[in-house]
Amino acid sequence: MPDDRLDDLHRRRERIKGLGGPERVQRQHEAGKLTARERLEHLLDPGSFVEWDMFVTHRAREFGMDQVEAPGDGVVTGYGTVDGRMVFVFSQDFTVLGGSLGEAHAGKIIKVMDAAMHAGAPVIGLNDSGGARIQEGVAALGGYAEIFLRNTLASGVIPQISAIMGPCAGGAVYSPAITDFIVMVRQTSHMFVTGPQVLRAVTREDVGFEELGGADVHASRSGVAHFVADDDLECLQVIKRLLSYLPQNNLDDPPRVDRGDDPARMDAELDRIVPDDPARPYDMREVIRRIVDIGSFLDVHAQYAQNLLVGFARLDGRTVGVVAQQPSVLAGVLDIASSVKGARFIRFCDAFNIPLVTFVDVPGFLPGVEQEHGGIIRHGAKLLYAYCEATVPKLSVITRKAYGGAYDVMSSKHVRGDLNLAWPTAEVAVMGPEGAIEIVFRRELAEAADPDALRARLVRQYRAQFANPYVAASRGYIDDVIAPRETRPRLISALRALATKRTANPKKKHGNIPL
Ligand code: HXC
Repeated sequence: MPDDRLDDLHRRRERIKGLGGPERVQRQHEAGKLTARERLEHLLDPGSFVEWDMFVTHRAREFGMDQVEAPGDGVVTGYGTVDGRMVFVFSQDFTVLGGSLGEAHAGKIIKVMDAAMHAGAPVIGLNDSGGARIQEGVAALGGYAEIFLRNTLASGVIPQISAIMGPCAGGAVYSPAITDFIVMVRQTSHMFVTGPQVLRAVTREDVGFEELGGADVHASRSGVAHFVADDDLECLQVIKRLLSYLPQNNLDDPPRVDRGDDPARMDAELDRIVPDDPARPYDMREVIRRIVDIGSFLDVHAQYAQNLLVGFARLDGRTVGVVAQQPSVLAGVLDIASSVKGARFIRFCDAFNIPLVTFVDVPGFLPGVEQEHGGIIRHGAKLLYAYCEATVPKLSVITRKAYGGAYDVMSSKHVRGDLNLAWPTAEVAVMGPEGAIEIVFRRELAEAADPDALRARLVRQYRAQFANPYVAASRGYIDDVIAPRETRPRLISALRALATKRTANPKKKHGNIPL
């Protein structure tokens, strides 16, 4: 091979690796952002990145594009490994035409998405883009639509993770929205369908970028973002940690990561964690922390609908999806937001062979006009549907209250719970004692000489009769009542017993979850 050919190749490669040029790279750094290539270097194992389509550039001649050079067409794509496991990646390059998406740019993303589906490996998208490239018009819109289609077809087949590391506006938000997890970076990333300038003109609402579509807003109010990070590096770390819990695809099992925590470990503190007074809160995160493998709980949607905790953890090194009421927030009641949060997480776990472990302390669904008119019937049904539909091993522990419809919903035996445990503090009943006696003994209370004394006696009676786990256990709805400290070994033993579980739902095109 003549040397000049090789020199030419190296020169071409270096020019493309220089992205949109030193000035724009500097601007990217000054904005507190890494470049598309730097991000991939930090995400992937050193030296593992293999780039595709480096020489691709736009094919547009319209609207002043004929003289425009666009290295890589504003996106870096290929594959590499994270902790030795294969992932396919695309990383949008804001220094080239603002990372905007034209036909060729979309083609590169589509190519890695198709390859990821063929290989059965996750796709990770690092988004930093001005959206559809204005100069390319409908070809850009078509490119987005082709990506949306692939996001949808890949859903439930391979894990899809989106990092938002810059602007993500207009219809462009819908690709990340279809993926399984969204990580946003504070201050530098924004997601909205309609930006602040347009809002000001159209609706006269005056709102800033961060306030409208920043990371914290989406993590705590809209629920669009599952994780937030302070900077690009933290964002990439979150993705790596998340991947460590996930299988490569829907036919694979999650990897086992055994950090040596004893499967037989019992924590005596658990026996004291539920307060004597049933109205007093406690921290369910602490319960989870003491039961799962040390340091393994990864909160998903930590800031959103905090009355329900969802997240990944490990038991004996194996990934589980944890769903748990948080009694210290709104008494752990189920409302619209927590139902939707739980349902989506459960469906992810079910699609990817991740057993579900549910901790129940639920006083019921949240009453009120706002919830009723907001559609708590429709949204609460999503959670119920998700639990009913799930065929992965389903384990549950009732720590305290399991009242009313919420008892049924939360992985009960009746919806194919495989193992249903209860602590001695469990109260399984149609409703709490106070509400129940007001209904059943309304007349007696109205006529009583000393209604308070009667009320207190009836509450005691009700508690003894219904507010305990033994009625449910006597019918076999609860498999066993255990000391809280026994929870970890009992869950691990059940996971081993259920490792070969095979259950199928009736054959159908797809169900009709109440959206
Ligand atoms: C072409 C674009 C572009 C776009 C940015 N650029 N967005 N070029 N098409 N959509 C270019 C700019 O011209 C500029 O080029 C460079 O990228 C950097 O942009 P700046 O504006 O200088 O950067 P900044 O001030 O940081 O602002 C970033 C921005 C802003 C907030 C993203 O550029 C912006 O508002 N862009 C338009 C966003 C938008 O409305 N996109 C369409 C969304 S609708 P030079 O050469 O000057 O450096 C959509 C539909 C999807 O995406 C369809 C799905 C159905």
